[in-house]
Amino acid sequence: MTASSLPGFRDSYPEDFVLRRHIFSGWREVARRYGFVEYDGPPLEALELYTAKSGAEIVGQLYSFVDRGDREVALRPEMTPTLARMVGARAQGLPKPIKWFSIPQLFRYERPQRGRLREHFQLNVDIVGETDVMADAELVAAAVDVLRYFGLGADDFVARVSDRRLITLILEEIGVPSGQVLEAISVLDRSERQGDEWLAERLSELGLGEAGVRRVLAVREHSLEDLSNEYGGSSGVSEAIQRLDAFFELIDHQGLAEFVVFDPRLVRGLAYYTGLVFELWEKSGRLRAICGGGRYDDLLAALGGPDLPALGFGLGDVVLGELLKEKGLVPRDSARIDDFIVCVTPEQRPAAIALVRRLREKGRSVGLDYRGRSVGRQFRAADQAGAARAIVIGPDEQRDGTASVRDMSTGDERSIGVEELLAELTAPDSAGNGA
Ligand code: HAM
Repeated sequence: MTASSLPGFRDSYPEDFVLRRHIFSGWREVARRYGFVEYDGPPLEALELYTAKSGAEIVGQLYSFVDRGDREVALRPEMTPTLARMVGARAQGLPKPIKWFSIPQLFRYERPQRGRLREHFQLNVDIVGETDVMADAELVAAAVDVLRYFGLGADDFVARVSDRRLITLILEEIGVPSGQVLEAISVLDRSERQGDEWLAERLSELGLGEAGVRRVLAVREHSLEDLSNEYGGSSGVSEAIQRLDAFFELIDHQGLAEFVVFDPRLVRGLAYYTGLVFELWEKSGRLRAICGGGRYDDLLAALGGPDLPALGFGLGDVVLGELLKEKGLVPRDSARIDDFIVCVTPEQRPAAIALVRRLREKGRSVGLDYRGRSVGRQFRAADQAGAARAIVIGPDEQRDGTASVRDMSTGDERSIGVEELLAELTAPDSAGNGA
């Protein structure tokens, strides 16, 4: 037996859950504000769902095996193919645009390092069935608002935006053979990690001459205006630039201009993107990308579904969690209970159990001693559980139908009738949330 967890996998102790709960509830809240509804799919899928369209990088990181029924299967490394499959199966009956979100746990066999693990949770937000650029702007705004929800501002992070189609057209115009464009894009994607010399060598291997290599590398430094001046003559390029202009105008209308910049260096590793692509980065660039996404208008059809345009993003909990810890934006432990019932002698247990039940039905979180320990130890247990109140029932209280309620933070005590104590609490609402 090994006594430790596998490398890159986390044990989540209760204190770690404070952060996870905070992150998940922020994710759900922002998704709700934007009108997305939650779904989930299976964590294990057919291997070919990923080998078909995700691209070599993610396929090389799969946890895959042959199951007992001789099926080739894989733990999901990302959610997008599952979403495309699920939407594809029901697309006809769903009103468009389809706006769904999910919080899957994903598995990638990466080298564990800061910000990268072998499992992570990822908020996925996707829109299917909409070509209008307004959807692109809503999506990027939602990703930005997720980070703003947690208290991060324009000094902390930036959304870098580009357009896969625009870059593709420009690369073709420069002379990258069309069969090699994805390869050239994946070379450019490594700009952050590799020097220009390495990039130039890879690009020339793709059949580019010296001047072509220089022009491809120069694209990374260009503004939208530069690109328009240099490549705007071709109709596809000017259309793509107009679309990006419209996108930035919509971001401006949202009041989010300070959070979003054009960055032609950004191309994204995944193979299925066809249009706008974006990533959210911590400003100093010390951490990995917090979020990534874009348009994948061909994926549903490529997986055998209907020909529907789609776009979305994935935002992971690992880098976000590190950032929140670093900036002191993690809430204090909220795993506290409301009431702890203290029995003075074992004879009060039936009355105590009945009261515990009625309090819980009112939605209170209630603890009690399981063992008939001394009153002092029960108070200590109440304190350790972080109880807001200790409710003491002794022989007198039992006889009179009362309880003695101690406020654990001030030490103030009052005697009150049990019925009155319960009447002080408002009834839980229909969703089962307590007072
Ligand atoms: P991705 O860029 O591979 O995109 O991942 C999105 C985010 O998930 C990353 O920016 C990062 O925060 C987090 N992430 C990815 N891998 C790891 C890891 N090994 N450890 C910790 N965090 C990680 C996708 O997965 C696309 N399917 C997103 C998407 C949704 N595109 C359209 N819809």
